[in-house]
Amino acid sequence: MVFFFMFGMLQGMRIVGGNQLNGEIEISGAKNLALPALVASILTSDKMIYKNVPNLADVKSLLELLACFGTEINYEGIHTLALSSRNIKSAIAPYDFVRKMRASILVLGALIARCGIATVSLPGGCAIGTRGVDLHIRALELMGADISIENGYIKANTAKGLTGCDITFPVVTVTGTENILMAAVLARGTTRLINAAMEPEVEAFCELLRKMGAKITGAGTSVITIEGVNELCGTEFEIIPDRIEAGTYAIATAVTNGQVLLKNCKYEHLTSFFETLNLAGISCEKKENGVLVYRREADIHPISIQTAPYPGFPTDLQAQYTVLMSLANGSSSITENIFENRFMHIPELARMGADITIHGKTAVVNGVEKLTGAQVMATDLRASVSLVIAGLVAEGETIVNRLYHLDRGYENIEEKLNHCGAKVERFDV
Ligand code: EPZ
Repeated sequence: MVFFFMFGMLQGMRIVGGNQLNGEIEISGAKNLALPALVASILTSDKMIYKNVPNLADVKSLLELLACFGTEINYEGIHTLALSSRNIKSAIAPYDFVRKMRASILVLGALIARCGIATVSLPGGCAIGTRGVDLHIRALELMGADISIENGYIKANTAKGLTGCDITFPVVTVTGTENILMAAVLARGTTRLINAAMEPEVEAFCELLRKMGAKITGAGTSVITIEGVNELCGTEFEIIPDRIEAGTYAIATAVTNGQVLLKNCKYEHLTSFFETLNLAGISCEKKENGVLVYRREADIHPISIQTAPYPGFPTDLQAQYTVLMSLANGSSSITENIFENRFMHIPELARMGADITIHGKTAVVNGVEKLTGAQVMATDLRASVSLVIAGLVAEGETIVNRLYHLDRGYENIEEKLNHCGAKVERFDV
């Protein structure tokens, strides 16, 4: 029960709209780097030290799963963790864990690399789409793993160990790239990942593996080459700032017509996004310790976007951007190219007065003068935060239910917002 209350399972959020956000927001460590980085602790029997780890429900879920394998976990501070996988006592990732947190699929490559065997539940679908893992599986088979799907589980083993080879991803897959990176670093010979993900989190993940002794070139490009080594050693690693959290607060600042310094945010991790905001009339200035965001013009200009793998416009900021465009002085289109069902925030925004119509994978947004507060339902991580952003600018009070979605990816969101002048409070349902 504590877990539920701790991470918003039975909680709602009340937001009183109309206040500007002004001041500073400290950006936490990146969820989508922390998850693969913590899994990489399986690849060595040495101790790993992680700094700037975000305090999130998804991180807690992953640590519980790693503990099932036998990984020892010690907190050396709220954001500093020591993990030791001296002895792996189990290579099974049960359905109950994987269904709660899809990124658990990341343990597949690491377990095969370390133990030569793995049994990992298929993640199943999720709110934003089918999100298959077929490419993860095919790549491991090309490297010599014997894989069968039995009773909803991926059963993998490789009696002779994995062998490097060329692997071309037909679509860019972030965790697919990361999974195969972990399989390849201890494989025999050379692996080349072609059409690899180039996200900053993937590039930083390669940096972590290199610090552990892996031989990797091409990180951050679409072709990553890995020379397998016999073993990896422990290291100390700092998680980079969460660019999606930063982009989320940039939009919250813009819609409330405030001015906020996003501390620790790296402009170059969000260039495409910040340039789009600039076109929409919002200034995003690179500073020594972050990025300063403020409305440069009275109007928000309608700027159409299409989501794309990095360095394109991030799909994880699409829902938040939709709120901004719903208040623009004209019409824009938002096309979601990555996931097939990532518009669930739109019916909820419509209940707050937004004028948006969906045509396949494109949402046409006609800007309105204002939004009005309402009781709304969160459905997934980024849709739920887009409803919070809408509540910040809406006239009156907004209630967002099912806060556990929010707590998966946003550390201390109400404290960070209230510190800048918002009126947000969490309550038990
Ligand atoms: C990662 O998910 C992120 N999660 C997602 O962030 C992010 O939205 C996504 O990448 C895209 O940037 C983590 O890093 C933990 P994909 P991932 O594999 O790796 C299809 C958030 O809000 N595909 O890059 O699961 C897939 O269906 C989360 O923080 C296959 O078909 O996404 C999707 O349409 C949400 N078969 C597309 O590729 C596969 O085997 C991209 O998915 C793999 C992927």
